[in-house]
Amino acid sequence: MAPDPSAQAVRRLVRWFRDEGPDLPWRRTRDRWAILVSEVMLQATPVSRVLPYYDAWMRRWPRADDLAAEPVGEAIAAWQGLGYPRRARNLHAAAVVVARDGWPPAERYQDLPGVGAYTADALRCFADEMPVLPEDVNVKRVVARRFPGGWPGAPRGRAWDAGQAMMDLGREYCRARAPRCDDGCPLRAGCPAADAGIVDEVTPRGRRQARYEGSMRQRRGFLLRALAEDGRAPVDTDPEAAESLIAEGLADRRGAVLVPAGSGR
Ligand code: ADE
Repeated sequence: MAPDPSAQAVRRLVRWFRDEGPDLPWRRTRDRWAILVSEVMLQATPVSRVLPYYDAWMRRWPRADDLAAEPVGEAIAAWQGLGYPRRARNLHAAAVVVARDGWPPAERYQDLPGVGAYTADALRCFADEMPVLPEDVNVKRVVARRFPGGWPGAPRGRAWDAGQAMMDLGREYCRARAPRCDDGCPLRAGCPAADAGIVDEVTPRGRRQARYEGSMRQRRGFLLRALAEDGRAPVDTDPEAAESLIAEGLADRRGAVLVPAGSGR
């Protein structure tokens, strides 16, 4: 039987990763809590920005139980500067569930708060080393361009490496804009999209991020920063943003002031 070129490309990808893949802290562990923390942080946030937050977080809360024992406001304050603080609230809620019930079986990871299809697959691949490919927007883009017939699967026992490699390839070479096809991409040879000159055309259209300047995100962020720094913020600084934080469990109200969520009476 002729060798399947896609399967061969995956072998090349895994070799490239083994030789050149960066040594990131969440790649030294198979601990589910550590993987969950890293994956939630890495959603919508670049690796370089995540690194210091991940280190500080794991030093402070090395196990899910450690975070579960603290009020959610501590998680939200530690998240300060990463953006999308709902992720911190969800991580805390997941920690509470894990502390109470233990980890669900792998096929039920999505029962955990804030864990969607991607994060569940990331836990299966990066913690449990199960043969699945976690497809976030970056990996989906690489698959669409390089494996238009679909992901062929990794060689036996190499799903972890292949998954990590796809993350790196999407970040370093197969970028959304200005992909570096002819600037050293290890999967350039035999790339259907690059060969046909249709890299742009086959790229899935992402959602454009809304402007931050002047947005509700920015206004909420301003209040959350005050909360993290001072432990309180007057509601009348921005009542609408305050209400929206309260409604989402990201802050509590005590009279006329906003206080960290879960900080008690
Ligand atoms: N983005 C999401 N998951 C990642 C991982 N494990 N390594 C690098 N970047 C990622």
